[in-house]
Amino acid sequence: MKIAVITSAPEFIQSYLDNTILRQAINNNSVLFHVIDIRDFAKGDYRQIDDTPFGGGAGMVLMAEPLIKAIDSAFIKLDTSIDNVKVIYPTPQGNTWSHDLVIENTVNENLIFICGRYKGIDQRVIDKYVTHEYSLGDFVISNGELGAMVMIDSVLRFHPGTMNNIDSALSDSFSTNLLDHPHYTKPRVVNGVSVPKVLIGGHHEKISSWRKIKSEDITKKKRPDLWEKYNKSIKKLETSHE
Ligand SMILES: C[S@@+](CC[C@H](N)C(=O)[O-])C[C@H]1O[C@@H](n2cnc3c(N)ncnc32)[C@H](O)[C@@H]1O
Repeated sequence: MKIAVITSAPEFIQSYLDNTILRQAINNNSVLFHVIDIRDFAKGDYRQIDDTPFGGGAGMVLMAEPLIKAIDSAFIKLDTSIDNVKVIYPTPQGNTWSHDLVIENTVNENLIFICGRYKGIDQRVIDKYVTHEYSLGDFVISNGELGAMVMIDSVLRFHPGTMNNIDSALSDSFSTNLLDHPHYTKPRVVNGVSVPKVLIGGHHEKISSWRKIKSEDITKKKRPDLWEKYNKSIKKLETSHE
């Protein structure tokens, strides 16, 4: 997998990469990662990358020209053309990011993320290059770097080479349309509260059955919509086995 992030805050992206499990995927070359600084493609002593919006109004807009050059350089770095790459713009206007979208994106070989700032990016860049727009949710944050890293992190957790044990990602919330069960670690008793007995009995079947029941109860209580989805998926599975 090859990923390029086009950003005006390369140190933010680098710091995230250096301090999370993504570092492992990069170090063992299972993911080739390029952080592309928009300012490297800006003109003039001030390396201007933003300007006032045509038509007036508050806020600045990321300029098209440096962005276009940065995107073209990403194609070269990823050794690909626009036909073989998903160009993602994290934006409040996109489809809401979800587990299903995470899984859908694990099969892409080449991903380019364009991080917006201020009022956003010049529309001509979106029209020419962006293939997918995704949103973190119905709210606005100040930059696309956070959005891009949320999306990249959630996709790479399912990429072989990122986590020591991929089963850990596969047993987390949403993978089977259920929320995760509770977790406990040492010591056995904290402030007089003991861990559930079943977890220290060493009986693997009993433990996995307890965990499944807990996951189901929690999902039913906290996310009735997901619970419905889970039941539908079970019914579908049963019908396909008949
Ligand atoms: C202040 S926001 C711009 C908001 C934009 N003017 C609007 O109202 O839709 C700056 C950048 O942050 C990112 N961003 C903000 N909210 C986001 C969200 N909910 N999901 C993904 N990215 C977001 C986008 O890249 C955006 O270009």
